[in-house]
Amino acid sequence: MTTTHVPVLAGELIEMLDPQPGQVAVDCTFGGGGHARLIAGRLGPGGTLIGIDRDPLAQERFEELAAELACATRFLRAGFAEGLAVLREERLNADLVYLDLGMSSMQVDTRQRGFSYSYDAPLDMRMDPGQELTAKDIVNGWDARRLARLLRELGEERYAGPIARAVVARRERQELVSTSELVDVIKSAVPAPARFAAGHPAKRAFQALRIAVNDELGQLERGLPLAWECLRPGGRLAAISFHSLEDRRVKRFLADRAQGCVCPPELPVCVCGHEPEAELLRRGIVATPGEVAANPRASSARMRVARKLGESS
Ligand SMILES: C[S@@+](CC[C@H](N)C(=O)[O-])C[C@H]1O[C@@H](n2cnc3c(N)ncnc32)[C@H](O)[C@@H]1O
Repeated sequence: MTTTHVPVLAGELIEMLDPQPGQVAVDCTFGGGGHARLIAGRLGPGGTLIGIDRDPLAQERFEELAAELACATRFLRAGFAEGLAVLREERLNADLVYLDLGMSSMQVDTRQRGFSYSYDAPLDMRMDPGQELTAKDIVNGWDARRLARLLRELGEERYAGPIARAVVARRERQELVSTSELVDVIKSAVPAPARFAAGHPAKRAFQALRIAVNDELGQLERGLPLAWECLRPGGRLAAISFHSLEDRRVKRFLADRAQGCVCPPELPVCVCGHEPEAELLRRGIVATPGEVAANPRASSARMRVARKLGESS
């Protein structure tokens, strides 16, 4: 398996984080290390790169990269919410923390991991193969209402109800064990014209399952405040999202930190004394048409970046 992951918005990430020699950077989603290689190159021998990822494949890639780097390195194999909690306990004062959410090309292209509707594989989708919950557990274990809600809320799937009912009807005859079986059930539940309308008919259901299996939104909700706490004043946080469920959370989190006075508008003077903690450095950065043409994954990417305000900023 030789797939490499082409990092998205790489130039923009470097420009916005502006890594300097001697700094400490935390890559919360190391993946294939594309972003980390570029960042670490700027940190020099006095700097430190900390990588986090829950995939053992990413750990292998980290070890290969670390052998080439001049800076100090450290890897935490964990969900980034847990990895950042460890760093916060250690009172890390990072200069840069960044997240590039979702799955890597290596994960999608390792067929047996079941992330893709294009390959026949076990219904798995775990980023951490040591985790218990798999896509098969959800598909065969959740009742129709819960499945439909999952497809609607995490996949924005228009045919969530019919698909959920079709899954339940099918598994009453026989357990679903493979991605192809699931794709067939989804196709059977979606009206013919819609099967060809907005991309592959299983695309949204697979996204929903992957997000649920890996608790991606929970990780983000817990991870963002910890990432913020690990940053020194003047440090920068960047997050690259690939769908609106993630981007909305990042946007709200940073907007809350950038807000000053929270007094009711009818008060003539501020009594809350609330000071902004963040400066938003450009809003919603998206890929150029050239990048999207070269790397279609970049089409849905959106990056948000903020600087932490405070004494040394
Ligand atoms: C889009 S890829 C990152 C690619 C990387 N920036 C690069 O340039 O190669 C996302 C990676 O983050 C990891 N990941 C996603 N969510 C995670 C989480 N909550 N905790 C830890 N790792 C996570 C995945 O396992 C995957 O390797």
